[in-house]
Order: sequence, then structure tokens, then C-alpha cells
Amino acid sequence: MIELVLKSVLRTEESETWLGEDGQIGATVSSAVNFLHNPVDNNVFACHNHSITWVTIGSLITMAKLQGQAKADYVQRMFDEIAPSYDRGNRVMSLGQDMSWRRIAIRTAALPAGGAALDIGAGTGDMAFLLAPHAGTVVGIDFAPNMVALAQRKARSRESWRHVSFLLADALHLPFPDDGFHAVTIAFAIRNVADIRRGLSEMQRVLAPGGRIVCLEFVKPNSRFVRNGYFTFLRLALPTLGRLSGGRPESHRYLAESIKDFYTADDLRLMMREAGFTSVRSKGLNWGTVAVVSGVKDERSKVAHDRNDS
Ligand SMILES: C[S@@+](CC[C@H](N)C(=O)[O-])C[C@H]1O[C@@H](n2cnc3c(N)ncnc32)[C@H](O)[C@@H]1O
Repeated sequence: MIELVLKSVLRTEESETWLGEDGQIGATVSSAVNFLHNPVDNNVFACHNHSITWVTIGSLITMAKLQGQAKADYVQRMFDEIAPSYDRGNRVMSLGQDMSWRRIAIRTAALPAGGAALDIGAGTGDMAFLLAPHAGTVVGIDFAPNMVALAQRKARSRESWRHVSFLLADALHLPFPDDGFHAVTIAFAIRNVADIRRGLSEMQRVLAPGGRIVCLEFVKPNSRFVRNGYFTFLRLALPTLGRLSGGRPESHRYLAESIKDFYTADDLRLMMREAGFTSVRSKGLNWGTVAVVSGVKDERSKVAHDRNDS
């Protein structure tokens, strides 16, 4: 049944090639169907054991171009699969710099002592644990069950992390009431969120007026010189570093592709302003390949909420 549906879609797309063997990357049925509605040039699908694999004619896998539910399904599944090697991969591929970038992001969040912090796309919990000494409570959310399980296991390992908890939840539908957190952080995750504007709007909703959002992310550098060098690094060195860290080749390809396809820090600042944040600023790190972009939820938005409610 599943095969029939897909084959007929493929015919209407006039794909000449049908690759019936197992490819490298799998996806759920819904994501493949969604993907077919947003076809990327040169892609064909193969169906294997009720899961669908897409491969690209030629060598480049363009997963980073997926959109909507297809992207969400792919990202969720990929992070679930790489969870065990995720921390090691981070250290190796950032050449040991990722924790210092996270510390800078946390200082930028300026969480009031004892405040409530939310970390979105928390992964294995690195941001949440760095927030812990400053916070009364820290909640990390992620939609990849294996990442959440790992973070929860780490949280149980230290007495000083008793106030840090992790939930399985989607950044696009946060299970929290309005105005509840004094700071919201998101590290290396907004690039992976299927609908960035909606994600920002959810973060704005749950942030308390006067609270700060901080987004740490790989961005497209403004300087053409740096950009060329960086993209060459992503193409040539990243796969080797990825192999050294024991990760999966597809995930390194996705990482490189998603960074190349992502926005500049200027674009992110603009999106934050459009989402309603004020005092939006960014700080470039690592030659402008990483950015800490922050904004504040306007104090007046509480008044605006209250007026709308009455
Ligand atoms: C590159 S990891 C970053 C993890 C962590 N923040 C860190 O600093 O290492 C991106 C994480 O975002 C999560 N993610 C992506 N989209 C999400 C969504 N819509 N809702 C919740 N988590 C999401 C992924 O599951 C993954 O764990």
C-alpha cells in the first residue's frame, strides 16, 4: 500500500529512476510524502521495508533542504540515532570550543539569581547544566527521545543538578503557560527547527516580560573570505573530524549542508525583531562562523496581554 502510493507520486513527478535498494538515509512515510510535495531537484525515493529512503542522483544528499514536517521527522530521527556519540562529536568537530561558546551564551542570558530558565533543543543537556548554578529551576526540552533520556541520566548523576529537568517536547508547541521563564536559551538547535518564526514566537510567549532569549548558532559569515575558507573546512575537514569522533557520515553531511544553507547573524537578528523582541544584539565568535544573538521580551507585552484578556 505504502509503495503504491509513493510509486504513483513518483510517476506524476516523472522521475526516471527508481532505486529499490536500501539507501543511506531513512524517513517516515509522512515525511517522504511531505517531501514529495516540496520536491528538491534531482531527488528520488526508494521504498524499503515500509520505511522510505531518499537518495540523490549524484552524490550530494540535500537533507538540509527539507522543510516542514519532513524536516522535523528527519532531524528527530537523526538526533535520536546519533545521541550516544553526540557529546564526543561536539568536542571534536568544534575543535574543543563548544563549551566556551555555550558559557558566553549563558552570560548573555543574564538570568536573575534563582530565576527559571528554559533551554530549547536541549540535546544531551550541556546548556541546561551550565545554566544550573545560576538558576532556581532549569527545564530542557527536546523532541528526540534518546537525547532526552541521556540528559535525564546525566541530571540524576549529580546532586547539584537536582533542579534541572528534561522533557520530551516540540519547540513549536511548548507545553508551558505564557510568561513563565526569566530566560530562554537555544544552542545549535534553531537551525534544525522546521519553522524558525513559529519557534521564536513560542519562545516569546513563554518568556516573562523583561526576560532574555539567547540563541547560539552556526551562521553564515558575512565576510566572503571567511565564508570561502569555512565552507572549505566544512567540505574537507568536517567529515574526517566526524569519523574521528565515531559519528555517522550522514549526520556530518547534514551538519555541513545545514550550516551552508542557514542564515547570517543579521538575518537572525531581523527574525528576532519580527518576532517582537527588543534590544536585539549579536556577538560573532570564531571568525563570525558562530553567533550569540539575544533579545528581550518587552516589559509592555505583559500589559498588552492583560489588556487583551480583559
Ligand atoms: C545540534 S543539537 C543541540 C543540542 C544542545 N542544545 C547542544 O547545545 O548541544 C539540536 C537539538 O535540537 C533538537 N530539536 C530540533 N528541532 C526541535 C524541535 N522542533 N523541538 C524540540 N527539539 C528540537 C534536536 O533533537 C537536537 O537534540
